[in-house]
Amino acid sequence: MDAQALKQRVAKEAVGRVESGMRLGIGSGSTAEAFVRVLGERITGGLRIVGVPTSERTAALCRDCGVPLATLEDLPELDLTIDGTDEVDPAFRLIKGGGGALLREKIVAAASARMLVIADASKKVATLGAFPLPIEVNGFGIVSTLLAVERAAALVGLSGELRLRKTGDDPFITDGGHLIIDASFGRIPDPEALSAALHAIPGVVEHGLFLGLASTVILAGTDGIEVLDAG
Ligand code: A5P
Repeated sequence: MDAQALKQRVAKEAVGRVESGMRLGIGSGSTAEAFVRVLGERITGGLRIVGVPTSERTAALCRDCGVPLATLEDLPELDLTIDGTDEVDPAFRLIKGGGGALLREKIVAAASARMLVIADASKKVATLGAFPLPIEVNGFGIVSTLLAVERAAALVGLSGELRLRKTGDDPFITDGGHLIIDASFGRIPDPEALSAALHAIPGVVEHGLFLGLASTVILAGTDGIEVLDAG
């Protein structure tokens, strides 16, 4: 079964957990997009939900698929957010932001009573960090912020390449108008310590460590579906 088929499978499993009347946070990335397409079919079939998208790209796809949308200002408290991930560890900690939507993804997830993470089984890791950690930063003073990130990482025993994300020759710009540094630490044994260290840097807007947010993880593998509940 190829990666796209696994995304399709986990998207169908997730949509089965959406109930009429829900206020739904809708994630970003290719797995979340597979979910949006299945959700659109269910809405055509009579499911009633209102979605809050986590990126402009997801918003556009939702409109194409007939998914009714609201803003987080309209609906500041949500029932459930369904989103993909780049990595998930046994403690339900995530690295997200490979698609650059981490800030809105985290704001929406934090505004939700529950977060359901959907992914193919390759995203399950023993220790976070093989996937470069996206760090969203203000463009002002970017070099100072890069140096501060390097020092903060060293304080918690980490080092690795810090790369400014680019689109072609230009810096990648997030929906919020910020830049992204991708930090290749390799292993992040203490994500909470790194999170605190990064949050102490004024130029850091947010980072892609999602700690204490995921309540359920559904993984699709060639052997079938695995459902993990944080309890
Ligand atoms: C978007 O910013 C990301 O957080 C995605 O949710 C994450 O990168 C997973 O994306 P895929 O489903 O495309 O792997």
